[in-house]
Amino acid sequence: MELNTFLRLTDIGIVKHLFIYFIILAAIIFGLVVFFVIFYSIKYRASKVSGTPEQNHGNRKFEIFITATAVCVTAFFLVLTLHAMQEIQTIPENPVPDIEITGHQWWEAKYPDGNVITANEIHIPVGKKMMLQLTSGDVIHSWWVPALGRKMDMIPGITNHMWFTASEPGEYLGSCSEFCGMQHARMRIRVIAQSQTDFDNWKAEQLKSAIAPSTEKAIMGKQLFEQKTCASCHNIAGANGRIGPDLTHFASRKWFLSDFKRNTIENLHDWLKDPQQIKKGVKMPDFILSDKELDALVAYIHSLK
Ligand code: CUA
Repeated sequence: MELNTFLRLTDIGIVKHLFIYFIILAAIIFGLVVFFVIFYSIKYRASKVSGTPEQNHGNRKFEIFITATAVCVTAFFLVLTLHAMQEIQTIPENPVPDIEITGHQWWEAKYPDGNVITANEIHIPVGKKMMLQLTSGDVIHSWWVPALGRKMDMIPGITNHMWFTASEPGEYLGSCSEFCGMQHARMRIRVIAQSQTDFDNWKAEQLKSAIAPSTEKAIMGKQLFEQKTCASCHNIAGANGRIGPDLTHFASRKWFLSDFKRNTIENLHDWLKDPQQIKKGVKMPDFILSDKELDALVAYIHSLK
């Protein structure tokens, strides 16, 4: 049988399948051990044997058989494992990334073919083998969405690559898995796997320029955004900040603060009122805004679909 067919290597489930084969093997060995313990305990129980039982000092044929079997099974699984590792880890010499992910205390995702930049919610087309490029903007982070496979460190100054595929549509949760500071535990990832059409539509929406504010409140919010130097860190189509997440289509995301809070007006209001209260140690400063200013800024940012 072809190894590829056996492991279904064309499918992303390669690690999953390998794991299942290991579990089956372990279950068989466990079953045999339990069976023989019970079988011989009954067969040679005290009441059946009078005096000193027969003393057995080994059985050469059986030992050769058991050693040869163990060597063969181990060799077979070694080949499967090496094959799976090669399949997963083979990265072309000049990889062309589908998504460039940079770890900050949040996740920046850039789709180089269309120049879409977003944060925390990573959209991917279902069933497509994607090349991820991973690096860090500050300290070491680690990318891990368990249901979608591998974990990969994100190291400042080093660019790592990995293949990434979701075979079923849906939302997959992950988290940073390298201690990176006070809010490490809240550096979560949400991967949204959708049909190619939905993905293309999402991308087309993200490529549009930011919606111009239409209400009085939102217009005031936009002015505040510029006056309060928010744009030094946050990009809203035109500005050039890259320290905090891109906000051009902020309201199109369901969660914010690295998947920590639902993206609602109330949560956004609380966040802007006192960022350190919500997320201690975050780089976002407290601008000490009045209630009126808060309302305006929230109205503006929340209009950015
Ligand atoms: Cu980023 Cu832990």
